[in-house]
Amino acid sequence: MLIRPERAADVAAIRAVTAAAFAAAEHAAPPVEADGVPGEATLVGWLRADVGWEPRLSLVAEDEGEIIGHVVGTRGRLQDRPALGLGPLSVVPARQGQGIGSVLVHSVLAAADALGEPVAVLLGDPGFYARFGFVPASSMGIEPPDPAWGDYFQARPLAAYDESWRGRYTYAAPFDRL
Ligand SMILES: CC(C)(COP(=O)(O)OP(=O)(O)OC[C@H]1O[C@@H](n2cnc3c(N)ncnc32)[C@H](O)[C@@H]1OP(=O)(O)O)[C@@H](O)C(=O)NCCC(=O)NCCS
Repeated sequence: MLIRPERAADVAAIRAVTAAAFAAAEHAAPPVEADGVPGEATLVGWLRADVGWEPRLSLVAEDEGEIIGHVVGTRGRLQDRPALGLGPLSVVPARQGQGIGSVLVHSVLAAADALGEPVAVLLGDPGFYARFGFVPASSMGIEPPDPAWGDYFQARPLAAYDESWRGRYTYAAPFDRL
């Protein structure tokens, strides 16, 4: 299996992988388009057109020529400065539980570190993300867009982090369209 940045030819496969992963998930966003796919699949396309898009942080997992997983980090704002939000993260149902999601998370964090990003935030299950160094964002003084998210809103300090990175986080604008 390879982990690599997406290429133009991967766009349709990434949409299909995201749709399949979230169609099988309990917490998928409702469809926003007539094709009925989970909102997360449409969101990835919207993000690609947004100012917060960082092509070096849209990574695919490829096995024997097939895209089986994807993760993306995009720049929203932490208080008044650009900062990374991770997700969606997707692995096709038939390949879940084989470590592919973990490799994607490790890879996107390493790529973010290499780009000099100070911090990455996400909304997700602490039971999964704590193993990658995510902590409740509130413990770092980082507030979620929605206070109801509580400890599901997590943050991971990167090498360039310092304690000035705090305040309210706002995702890249397309997230608000879900
Ligand atoms: C979440 C997802 C990306 C994980 O990918 P994966 O390839 O199955 O993950 P891995 O095989 O690397 O890791 C699996 C481990 O995480 C655990 N895990 C997976 N999802 C979890 C969750 N929601 N809560 C707690 N643990 C979870 C598994 O039990 C397993 O633990 P183990 O290593 O102790 O056995 C995948 O299940 C998926 O695409 N889900 C649907 C979309 C989704 O929910 N995306 C994330 C939104 S935040």
